[in-house]
Amino acid sequence: MTQTTLRQHLQAQQTDTDLMILMEDIATACRMIADRVRHGAFAGVLGAAETENVQGETQKELDVISDELFQQVVGGNPSLAALVSEEVDEVNWRKTAPQAGDFVVYYDPLDGSSNLDVNLSVGTIFSIVRLNAAIAPEASAVQIKGTKQVAAGYAIYGPSTGLVITVGQGVDGFTHHPGSGEFLLTQPEMSIPPETKEFAINASRYDMWHPPVRNYIDDCLRGKNGPRGKTFNMRWCASMVADVHRILTRGGVFLYPADAGNAAQGGKLRLMYEANPMGMLVEQAGGASSTGLGRILEVAPTGHHQRVPVILGSREEVAVIEGYHKK
Ligand code: AHG
Ligand code: MN
Ligand code: MN
Repeated sequence: MTQTTLRQHLQAQQTDTDLMILMEDIATACRMIADRVRHGAFAGVLGAAETENVQGETQKELDVISDELFQQVVGGNPSLAALVSEEVDEVNWRKTAPQAGDFVVYYDPLDGSSNLDVNLSVGTIFSIVRLNAAIAPEASAVQIKGTKQVAAGYAIYGPSTGLVITVGQGVDGFTHHPGSGEFLLTQPEMSIPPETKEFAINASRYDMWHPPVRNYIDDCLRGKNGPRGKTFNMRWCASMVADVHRILTRGGVFLYPADAGNAAQGGKLRLMYEANPMGMLVEQAGGASSTGLGRILEVAPTGHHQRVPVILGSREEVAVIEGYHKK
């Protein structure tokens, strides 16, 4: 293990000072969320909050607590124009007259929160865009394509607390060191093998899948003697952070397609808080991220809570799945 801290790493990458301070603020928020998650059972906050978020999903008490912590810690950053949260209806403007150089941060404060009650991994996902001109503080101004992200990452609250980031120069993984409180570099230059024999999908939705996804999974399941000519393994964590973390570690492909049950909303996962940041990380690690029809990062947003189909991971496998969509 190296003793490289998050700051030393960002300095070595010659990260802009404002961006570095913002990423450190996000890392602090994640450490505080990790602490709350860890003490969840003692604090009696593992259950539902009796509220729904703007997308009609039941919020867990820790969804709300995590969002508040993120707002408190990151919201005070002096170069922040706006916070845009999965759990909050409106854009949270931090400046009345955002300028070029200011940041917009999109985040999912607690991803995979249905896993809290069963003590499985959850996480926090974030995406950072830097404004290249002054803007009026209106919701349409934060509808910015994923290609404009200058940084993205996630914290994972698992057996250890991890932080995985990109500032557009590859992907690096850190582990929270409880003694010092620092995130120390433990997985430098994470890269996704181009080929895989492992897929992740919620197969309980089989009946609702559209033909391209159904045909792809059917062919994988036929194994060595089927059209794919190899035996596949399957994993599904119901926590995108945990699934993407596995893919960044050993490869694989992750699918949350649009299907008959979610097509009216565009899919399940959210473009700005989940698909774009994970898409950037996966691409920076040599993988690919697609809606099935094109690159996720090229999707022009129509609303900040927009949902999209998500297919990401080992690049040759993503290309195979895109092929099924073209057929
Ligand atoms: P969130 O907890 O932020 O709402 O996100 C949950 C997401 C994602 O983490 C996961 O991949 C997916 O929803 C799980 O969906 P299913 O419950 O349909 O498996
Ligand atoms: Mn989520
Ligand atoms: Mn969430």
